[in-house]
Parts: sequence; structure tokens; C-alpha cells
Amino acid sequence: EKHLLGTKGLSAGELNAILDRAAYWEQHPAKVTNQLQGRFVANMFFENSTRTRFSFEVAEKRLGAEVLNFAAAVSSVQKGESIYDTVRTLESMGIDAGVIRMKPNGLLAELAQKIKVPLINAGDGNNEHPTQALLDLYTMRKQFGEIRGLHVAIVGDIQHSRVARSNLWALQTLGAKVSFCAPPVMQAAELAEHAPYISLDEALKADVVMMLRVQLERHEGSLFGSAEEYRAAYGLTAERAARMAPHAIIMHPAPFNRNVEIDDELVECEKSKIFTQMSHGVPIRMAVIERALS
Ligand code: CP
Repeated sequence: EKHLLGTKGLSAGELNAILDRAAYWEQHPAKVTNQLQGRFVANMFFENSTRTRFSFEVAEKRLGAEVLNFAAAVSSVQKGESIYDTVRTLESMGIDAGVIRMKPNGLLAELAQKIKVPLINAGDGNNEHPTQALLDLYTMRKQFGEIRGLHVAIVGDIQHSRVARSNLWALQTLGAKVSFCAPPVMQAAELAEHAPYISLDEALKADVVMMLRVQLERHEGSLFGSAEEYRAAYGLTAERAARMAPHAIIMHPAPFNRNVEIDDELVECEKSKIFTQMSHGVPIRMAVIERALS
């Protein structure tokens, strides 16, 4: 199995192997290697991205791969071509692996049945975003030494969050305790059996307080009043962050809405690992690309 569709179903051994390989790449001094010389990787983003798209590209280039960047906005998708037909087209041109981000839920699993080259999920609907969770795990492991026994509170728009889902599956596999905190309209009923919903005051006692972006583009109409109301009820304000334990850290997959789910002054505060998470995206994606093509 060379596809990486999600963290659900990955064993602790598989997760740790990716984290260990990422640690190797983080420490590896060479900016560019010839590891994947002559291999073609296509980045196929049917939905917008900055971090995932560019860190995959940096990772692929550091491994010496030939990189093709597909952008839906200037492709035949605009003429109505489907995601399957697009991926099949690139496969027929001889790509060795595809990185793919898309809006629909469930389509990636279907594609993976039909497409022979390995596919790596760069985020699909609200289903999974495995490389984000892996870079989050990597950040936690580096910070605390091990994941087992950590309490991770994921706060915000759980319903629309593929990051929450991928983190939930991977963190539980590695022995962490996961809790959610969200207003009722942003809760995911189907996840309630997997992790408890707790108050924000309780969430602030966790070792990791992971804030999620309010995904305005996925909400139809206003689900939770104004930005100010959301901040007052569920935002990580400076006052709330001051109540966190001295050893605890703040995470956020980004992009963030400053002064909505997280106060402007917290984004780069001492407790915040947000830009550290981003820098870990490159070695994690090197490990994932290598796994797909090994
Ligand atoms: N965290 C994340 O996936 O960011 P992008 O949407 O910019 O890739």
C-alpha cells in the first residue's frame, strides 16, 4: 500500500517510521539530494493551498524529483473535466506519484482503486489531511519527547475539520488523549463516540491546545454570530492563554483568523509552535513522498 489516504488505519509502527524518517531529513544537511532523480511527482490541487502545496514542492525538490504543478484554475477543469479524468490524464503521461487536494468527501478512496500510481492525500473535504496531522505529531514529539500520555485539546470548527479527524486517529493510535471543544453548531456528531466534548476552561488545562480556523467558506450563512462573539466564547485570547500550564503549547494548522480563534499577539508568542509546525511540513512531506515511491 503506497497510497496515503489518511491516518485512520495506520499503525503506530507506520506512523513512527514516517516521524523517524522526517527527523532524519530535518537533520540532513544537504538542501537537495538525488534520492528521487528521474521520478515525476504531480501536485494536483483542486482546492486552494499555500502551506501544503509549497511544502510538498520544496520536499519533492529537496529529494531531487521532477515536479509538475497542476492548478485547477488554469486547467481543463474549467471546461468541466472531472477530477478522475484529470488524474488519469496525468497518470497516462507517466507521473510516478500524485499529491492531491480536493473538496469532495469519499472520492479519493475511489480514485485510489482505479489509479495505479501512489496518491497522497493533501486534504479531502472534511475527511482527512494526513500530512498535517503527521507534522503536528512530529512537532509534539519533538516538544515533549513522546506522544503517549499527552492530552491534546482540539478547539473550534470540528465539524468541517479534516485536520481534527486526522489528528484524532493518529494521536489515539500513538496513545494520546484527545478532547474536542466546539460550539454545538460546529460539533461533529459522528466523532462524539471517539472523543469527549469539553468546555474551553477544561481545554486550557491540556498539554496541547490546538486551535482550528473557523472555516467561513464551508459554513452556509452565519453559524455562530459575529467574529467578536466567537472570540469571546471560543477564541484563544491572551487572558485565556495565560491560564495554560507553563509547559503547555499552542498549535494551529494555519491559515489563522487573527483575533477570531486566536489573538494576534499569541500567534508568535513563546508558547506558540505555529511557524515551527510549518517548518516541519517539509521533512514530513519528504518522508511521505519517499514512502510512496520506495
Ligand atoms: N494547513 C494547511 O493545510 O494550509 P494550506 O491550506 O495553506 O495548505
